[in-house]
Amino acid sequence: MDKILITWGTGRLWKACRKIFPDALYPSSKDMDITDPQQVKTYISQNKPDSVIHLAALAGIPDCEKNKEKAWNINVEGTKNILTACRDNSVSKFLYLQTACIFSWEDAPYDENSLPDPKHYYWFTKAIAEEIVKSYNSDTLTTLIARTNFTTMPWEYEKAFTDRFWTYLFAQWVAKWLKDFIKDNKWEKIIHICGERKISMYDYATLGWSKVWKMNLWDYSWPNLTRDMSLITKKWETYKIEDSDYNDN
Ligand SMILES: NC(=O)c1ccc[n+]([C@@H]2O[C@H](COP(=O)([O-])OP(=O)(O)OC[C@H]3O[C@@H](n4cnc5c(N)ncnc54)[C@H](OP(=O)(O)O)[C@@H]3O)[C@@H](O)[C@H]2O)c1
Repeated sequence: MDKILITWGTGRLWKACRKIFPDALYPSSKDMDITDPQQVKTYISQNKPDSVIHLAALAGIPDCEKNKEKAWNINVEGTKNILTACRDNSVSKFLYLQTACIFSWEDAPYDENSLPDPKHYYWFTKAIAEEIVKSYNSDTLTTLIARTNFTTMPWEYEKAFTDRFWTYLFAQWVAKWLKDFIKDNKWEKIIHICGERKISMYDYATLGWSKVWKMNLWDYSWPNLTRDMSLITKKWETYKIEDSDYNDN
């Protein structure tokens, strides 16, 4: 199998990815700070991966609203730094994990041809990064954007929304999908990786054995959140969340 580099040390996909890609390189932000072009260049030229899966991001919505410069540097400049190092060091595949939140939240469900219309700074930086990823696609570097929404189990929070809907997936499905896809030679430019049905966050959170309290959008004041982020796909299969092992995320 290709030598794979996954840009992130401790994110939510950590456990699932380590199981699926035990031999991959997982630099933390200390090993390779993606906002430092020289460090990125050095790490990639020394380790010579064949494929890069780019997950590192400032991913919290309030975090990005409060720290816009940091969000821009990590999510936009950081993505550009990695792509440049990949291009200059003969990396052949670059996969960018994108959030479903780049859409307007009024016209769900969204397929691969839907147009991004981000409402918050996190989503804005991710949408700009997506355009940069597309612009680096070439005969020698194939780039792919995989849009998804996933989370780990048990549910990370005390409460979950009853009136926010997603086609959620467990992290383990996303990691498995990454493996299938990285082996594939015929890459689409944009793929949606999604569950087969729309589900509220609360129903999802309580699928396993989690003890979670109900909340709704009236209980939350800032920033405004998406009510329906459902994705559909015209290019890939969908996943049945009930087929997952809830305790294996
Ligand atoms: N969670 C979702 O539902 C979801 C859905 C779709 C797409 N995504 C995308 O999936 C990716 C991972 O999301 P997540 O929820 O796992 O995020 P997360 O838990 O917040 O993890 C983000 C990771 O980025 C790393 N990072 C931050 N700044 C960095 C820097 N300057 N240099 C190197 N690494 C840095 C962090 O590493 P350190 O801990 O070492 O700082 C951390 O491991 C993101 O691109 C996100 O947009 C997430």
